[in-house]
Amino acid sequence: QTVARFLIMKMSFLLNGESVSTSVNTGTETLLDFLRQGAGLYGTKEGCNEGDCGACSVIITGHDGVPRPMNACILFLPQLQGRAVRTVEGISGPDGNLHPVQEAMIAKHGAQCGFCTPGFITTMAAAHATGQTDFDTALAGNLCRCTGYAPIIRAAEMAATAPVPKWMQDLPPTTGHASSDAIFCPLSSDELAQWYQQNPEATLVAGGTDVGLWVTKHMRRPAPIAFLSQVSDLRHIEDHPDHLRVGAAVTITELMQAIASISTSLYSMLARYGSPQVRNAATIGGNIANGSPIGDGPPALIAMGAILILRRGSERRRIPLEDFFIAYQQQDRLPGEFVEAVELLKDQTGLRCYKLSKRFDQDISAVCGCLNITAKDGIITQARIAFGGMAGTPARALRTETALIGQIWSAETFATAQAAMAQDFTPLSDMRASAEYRARTAENMLMRYYHDIEHKPVDIREVRA
Ligand code: FAD
Ligand code: FES
Ligand code: FES
Repeated sequence: QTVARFLIMKMSFLLNGESVSTSVNTGTETLLDFLRQGAGLYGTKEGCNEGDCGACSVIITGHDGVPRPMNACILFLPQLQGRAVRTVEGISGPDGNLHPVQEAMIAKHGAQCGFCTPGFITTMAAAHATGQTDFDTALAGNLCRCTGYAPIIRAAEMAATAPVPKWMQDLPPTTGHASSDAIFCPLSSDELAQWYQQNPEATLVAGGTDVGLWVTKHMRRPAPIAFLSQVSDLRHIEDHPDHLRVGAAVTITELMQAIASISTSLYSMLARYGSPQVRNAATIGGNIANGSPIGDGPPALIAMGAILILRRGSERRRIPLEDFFIAYQQQDRLPGEFVEAVELLKDQTGLRCYKLSKRFDQDISAVCGCLNITAKDGIITQARIAFGGMAGTPARALRTETALIGQIWSAETFATAQAAMAQDFTPLSDMRASAEYRARTAENMLMRYYHDIEHKPVDIREVRA
């Protein structure tokens, strides 16, 4: 009996309004390489090739019809199935008319060498199409080395009131099966569960913001691969009376929208997670599953008391999120088991999240501290304190919590509990921070929390002399 072998996957997507079909061999071909080497579209630039500079920004319109900027250098072609792509070549009209952001960039002198300009134009056009006017945030993922940001921001402001040109409206094509022997693009978590149980050695790709770097920087070629971007039931956020159930493939951008009314502190911290381009691709499931000791999602979710739902075949288990992280690069995940969802209680009034990084935007945390402390009648009754960057895993500060519980809510109590932090953690020195800096700033976050809850200004941008 002959077994049919499909080594090459055929796929199609919308590119600047037109359907294109292409063959995918390994599944790790990036959109950036496809554009520049396959499609002859050289406007999209390669800068860092790791999601940091925004020179490769393109607009992706997905299942919800919202155009969002993403980095083409760390987007794999199979992630585009069912999506529309717009590059800088598709920002001006078919008759050659310039887009309002292009006209404004000329009028405001927004380009010097021009290398970053296509990335700025696409990101600005996406912000323009969605009516965003916080341009510091919208453009935080685009680096310019020579013009300086003021003329670019002025251009974005100038274009803001102009209508969105008709040609910018992309309707994404419908999702569809497209797979080969080495690449699997499931449409449901049931399909994924069955396939992953049979292929437990496979690599899962959700947003690809970690796996993308394995490919572009470490020259790895993972195979086989399953792409989660079309697994619609992993992209849902279920809103229950007292909790949210957040599917693993929900992006950081989508999570921010869902938690905005639950915790402004977590929202503000996530607004510093990578850049808009990274947040539009990165998923909460990937942020948990990668087991990174310096990820921003896990400390916040642990402080919120989140429950992780893991699935293998038709079996599911629920564990407190902190129990998932066993040791550095070791998680409680069986072969063929994947992260399906995370559940969070909605009552998070005591939650505060603090991210320390060398750069305000678009930087990985040196220390990320998330504290959630409850007091009743002046006595501390509950404390959940979790840190990233302080150990080989995201971890709770259990001794510090014990030092607080049962004590009077006061500055003295918090100052006394600072000493327990040294028993909780022995941080390491690395390129992001020294061990001493980490230990000191984690202690200081305790005092910061106290003053924050007491409505004192604690953000450096709020402190006035
Ligand atoms: P992927 O790259 O798709 O996958 C990551 C890992 O998780 C892989 O091992 C994959 O197999 C596995 N995986 C994915 N989904 C599942 C699942 N459902 N079940 C089991 N395994 C799964 N992180 C931060 O925390 N804060 C930051 O500020 C930050 N900034 C960044 C800036 C840049 C420029 C880049 C490139 C990355 C940054 N990151 C940051 C890291 C990265 O964005 C996050 O870890 C992200 O959440 C990973 O999600 P993803 O969907 O892209 O994961
Ligand atoms: Fe720098 Fe893609 S080339 S983000
Ligand atoms: Fe030269 Fe921006 S114009 S890098």
